[in-house]
Amino acid sequence: MADLLQLIQTRRSVRAFTAAPVSRAQIEKILNAGRLAPSGKNTQPWRFVVVESAGKREALAKLAPQAGMIKTAPLTLAVLCDRDAGYDELKDAQEIGAAIENILLTVHSLGLGACWMGKTRNVDIERVVGAGESEELMALIPIGHPAEDPDETDRLPLERITRFV
Ligand SMILES: Cc1cc2nc3c(=O)[nH]c(=O)nc-3n(C[C@H](O)[C@H](O)[C@H](O)COP(=O)(O)O)c2cc1C
Repeated sequence: MADLLQLIQTRRSVRAFTAAPVSRAQIEKILNAGRLAPSGKNTQPWRFVVVESAGKREALAKLAPQAGMIKTAPLTLAVLCDRDAGYDELKDAQEIGAAIENILLTVHSLGLGACWMGKTRNVDIERVVGAGESEELMALIPIGHPAEDPDETDRLPLERITRFV
């Protein structure tokens, strides 16, 4: 596995994928990285649904924004939050974010690509992925072999975003 900082520096959002499949072993590594994220009181409110069947992927693409991405990705990971497991809405969001970043970095370490799609809360999509009563959709993450090599995106300089007090 590449050096962590190197992985953080070179990860990009990938929005176009080849038809090559992602292996079950790769999917398990990716999910395991999400599972290992920290959470308040170790409540682990994340739940993962791997959307890989042609029928479900098509149903998802019809409902989600940026349908092209979902259509071409061999799988889309739906990240749900089980509100019964969590105990604080703000912390739930932070925990899910930590899990997703672990997932994105692991995807990248495997030579795959992914895009974090955050504005996806939608009861119809929740129905497609089989969300339970207490589960809310937090993000969709199409994952696959990159069919593009996106440019580096800008970041604000440290001195602009940091204060020492
Ligand atoms: C919470 C969150 C929500 C995002 N939602 C979307 C989205 O709906 N669609 C999309 O194409 N990219 C989405 N992105 C990806 C960002 O656009 C991307 O991370 C940002 O432009 C920086 O580019 P990079 O990931 O290549 O470094 C999202 C990222 C985050 C962290």
